[in-house]
Amino acid sequence: MKITISQAPDYNEKEVTIGAWLANKRSSGKIAFLQLRDGTGFMQAVVAKNDIEEEVFQTAKNLTQETSIYITGKIVEDKRSAFGYEMHVTNLEVIHEAEDYPITPKEHGTEFLMDHRHLWLRSKKQHAIMKVRNEIIRATYEFFNNQGFVKVDPPILTASSAEGTTELFHTKYFDEEAYLSQSGQLYMEAAAMALGKVFSFGPTFRAEKSKTRRHLIEFWMIEPEMAFIEHEESLVIQENYVMFLIQSVLKNCKLELDVLERDISKLEKIQAPFPRITYDEAIELLKEKGFDDIEWGDDFGAPHETAIADSFDNPVFIVNYPKDIKAFYMQPHPDRDDVVLCADLIAPEGYGEVIGGSERIHDYDLMKQRYEEHGLTGPAYEWYLELRKYGSIPHSGFGLGLERTVAWLTGVEHIRETIPFPRLLNRLHP
Ligand code: 4AD
Ligand code: MG
Repeated sequence: MKITISQAPDYNEKEVTIGAWLANKRSSGKIAFLQLRDGTGFMQAVVAKNDIEEEVFQTAKNLTQETSIYITGKIVEDKRSAFGYEMHVTNLEVIHEAEDYPITPKEHGTEFLMDHRHLWLRSKKQHAIMKVRNEIIRATYEFFNNQGFVKVDPPILTASSAEGTTELFHTKYFDEEAYLSQSGQLYMEAAAMALGKVFSFGPTFRAEKSKTRRHLIEFWMIEPEMAFIEHEESLVIQENYVMFLIQSVLKNCKLELDVLERDISKLEKIQAPFPRITYDEAIELLKEKGFDDIEWGDDFGAPHETAIADSFDNPVFIVNYPKDIKAFYMQPHPDRDDVVLCADLIAPEGYGEVIGGSERIHDYDLMKQRYEEHGLTGPAYEWYLELRKYGSIPHSGFGLGLERTVAWLTGVEHIRETIPFPRLLNRLHP
């Protein structure tokens, strides 16, 4: 019977064959412990000289790291390992003998690992991060499908820019100028007018010259957009969604969080509703905390966000930012025209902004005024303005950065480990 490592618990005391790679090995004169991996998991296989043909034992002892094998043996419960099962080997067949593998179980520098990202992905920690990433994606679809959202795919090649024109990747679109999408939002607003509640999940691109542990050039965003939903209602959906992600990861990624040595008590104590503070209050808080230079109207950097987050155990919404530091489409506050109905959700533990969202301007004349202020003209934007002509309604939406969320839930230090092949300021390879 050919099975995967993940199926081993269903085959206790049975003889099975697994296709695997050798991740690591320890051996003495009489016994070899092989650490197997097959993509679905990691498991130890025990090869005992006395139970097996001499030739097979010698093959096992001499296996090089990353050699691929078909390995046969009995699955046995093993209470000492986190996985809970191991294999007592009866036979072994080499498929391909690996050459000297560059990533040994020793420590390696970051640049070296990044240059070998195509191989680094095989390691236990990277495997765990990718599994958590997958769980967040899976849980996202479950959450929004259960709430009656329709998945909509906005274009990647666009002529318009949602988040300002300075950080765009330009490309030729035959004779026209095009950009790689910074956000699907403008299209999602059109989709919400057709389908009510919609969400997108796709790659977005920002030519940001920032080299921080939170910024990628290419990252994936989940962007829900909701008809007839006002700002406050959107915040409740955001916190329910984030709670659902946390609970799904805690429930379905126990082994992975263990491999990553994540302090899960920090995730377990998170509870909705999340605190909401205004931008004005955030400025006051920062001043109290010794940020003397910060002034009303400034945008927050990573140290500011971290200082604010450290005042709370839960993620915190900062609401009502000054209109001048936010995007053109945000609905003004009903009582003040200097701030807008928006919120950034700041994760605890220094992981920074994981969600940015707002209510959108739905009044045609006001949007037209914003167009003039921002110099938005031409066919790239006309269609978006036109949405405000035919039964315009209050609506809100937000964008959750997948990699920031993966970094937070896994507890990894740097965002580069949260995506299979990160695109960074100085890195396009592999
Ligand atoms: O705050 P942002 O720029 O918001 C938008 O793009 C809106 N149009 C979303 C919407 O309302 N539909 O980006 C949203 C989120 C951020 O909160 C952050 O989590 C993530 O995207 N993000 C990045 N993640 C990694 N690297 C970068 N360079 C990122 N820039 C934004
Ligand atoms: Mg933002």
